[in-house]
Amino acid sequence: MVSRAEELLDWLRTPRATRWFTEEPVAERDIRSICEVARWTGSARNRQPWRLRVATEPDLRRRLSTLGDYALHLANAPAVLAIAVDPELGGRDTPFDEGRLCQSIVLAAHALGLGSCPVTLHPEQNVAAAGRLLGLTARWQVRHVVALGHPAPRPPGVSAIPTGRLAASALLGEDHAG
Ligand SMILES: Cc1cc2nc3c(=O)[nH]c(=O)nc-3n(C[C@H](O)[C@H](O)[C@H](O)COP(=O)(O)O)c2cc1C
Repeated sequence: MVSRAEELLDWLRTPRATRWFTEEPVAERDIRSICEVARWTGSARNRQPWRLRVATEPDLRRRLSTLGDYALHLANAPAVLAIAVDPELGGRDTPFDEGRLCQSIVLAAHALGLGSCPVTLHPEQNVAAAGRLLGLTARWQVRHVVALGHPAPRPPGVSAIPTGRLAASALLGEDHAG
């Protein structure tokens, strides 16, 4: 019999990057639930150097989809959750804090049956443009956003991005491969 812990560990392994979505909107209460989980993410010295902005309006999502190299699916995701960080507030731990917040969002979305995909916005001028589009002041930098939606089947074709993961033995240096 599978224990509750094994079930949970298995569940933690399963979220994959989702880039195809149905047209069903993401319910407002689901966005709220995701934010409720995200806000309890730990940050260095509990500085919480972050804010979130939600983009559902199609033209806004389309404009965000032009601000990264691999961001086109933002135009087709029913909701985009933008992560804004203040590096002056977060100091050197800002990127780590941001990554933790993002993973909270991914896991909360997974719990609700939603698919998600973190997306990088760059270069700097696009980071600034995203902040302006989302009505943020210059102190807040939007380096990553998360596409959210109900997963649709992935169209056939080969992705340029490899799937799978390093084996645990490789992570732990047990395979003596360096
Ligand atoms: C920091 C970060 C930035 C990412 N940026 C992008 C991106 O710009 N576009 C994209 O399609 N996927 C992006 N991804 C998703 C990764 O490609 C994905 O997590 C990785 O390929 C593993 O996917 P899988 O879990 O489906 O195997 C990003 C992921 C992370 C953690």
